[in-house]
Amino acid sequence: MYKKEEIILQVKGVNLTYDRPILRDINFDIHNVTRPGMVTGQIVSLIGRSGIGKTQLFRILSGLLTPNSGTVCIDADLHPVVAGQIGVVPQNYILFNHRTILDNFKIGLRGAVEKSTEKQKEELIHDYAERFELKEHLHKYPAQLSGGQRQRVSILQQILTGHKFILMDEPFSGLDPVIKDKVLELMVSVASLSELSTIIIISHDIESALAISDTAFILANQKGKEGSTITETIDLMSMGFSWNPDIKQNKNFQELVSQMKFRM
Ligand SMILES: Nc1ncnc2c1ncn2[C@@H]1O[C@H](COP(=O)(O)OP(=O)(O)OP(=O)(O)O)[C@@H](O)[C@H]1O
Ligand SMILES: [Mg+2]
Repeated sequence: MYKKEEIILQVKGVNLTYDRPILRDINFDIHNVTRPGMVTGQIVSLIGRSGIGKTQLFRILSGLLTPNSGTVCIDADLHPVVAGQIGVVPQNYILFNHRTILDNFKIGLRGAVEKSTEKQKEELIHDYAERFELKEHLHKYPAQLSGGQRQRVSILQQILTGHKFILMDEPFSGLDPVIKDKVLELMVSVASLSELSTIIIISHDIESALAISDTAFILANQKGKEGSTITETIDLMSMGFSWNPDIKQNKNFQELVSQMKFRM
């Protein structure tokens, strides 16, 4: 039992051209999904091959890049997005190199929980750091971490800011399979922090993205047309694939994943 309620993010007629068209007439909506008696945030994926324009779309969605035409609107009042209103985890994540991991997290927390004491903030950070397997690294500097560890820091830092929308560009690259499953689990729990929490995953990792999404949009080229567009919407809720931690073992799900490779 679930319901697709009001639109909370709307992309309309987005076009982006550099020396050639990159993105062509991108349109999609993200709805607030509700389930009776449960707090249900949204996890939505944008899936596409390398070089198709995912990072450009990421920049447009986050308000960091203005498209040649079209709009991105967010929240119940659907106002145009402004940079800073959406939490972003970029493909080449940037951390403050002269601060420890703990201090990097504190920066993220600053705006989110103004009223809590230093002690409460540290407790919250320690709790999350434990779940992200970062606790022993809190007093190190970013340069002392591996790529995968830095990536988890970067994801957690955005979670701690308390933004309702968190946009992640290739969040699974550089993670080993065990950590990847943990990060997937964590994304699910972050999405269920509040009813309007929304995680948007931009990725070419079809299996990981589909495993935790309620909706996936495929970004691909259409024959004879320049620039990529949304060629397919996969409603994983109606297929019965959502909110199932063991979905990767499901035969029909595996079939969908292998088919998708030929559809992008
Ligand atoms: N500033 C720019 N000027 C001109 N072309 C650009 C610019 N930035 C990106 N492009 C082109 O836009 C296309 C899409 O790039 P983008 O980085 O969005 O791809 P992507 O889907 O994120 O790829 P990947 O999966 O490898 O990260 C590429 O062909 C790239 O060369
Ligand atoms: Mg990219």
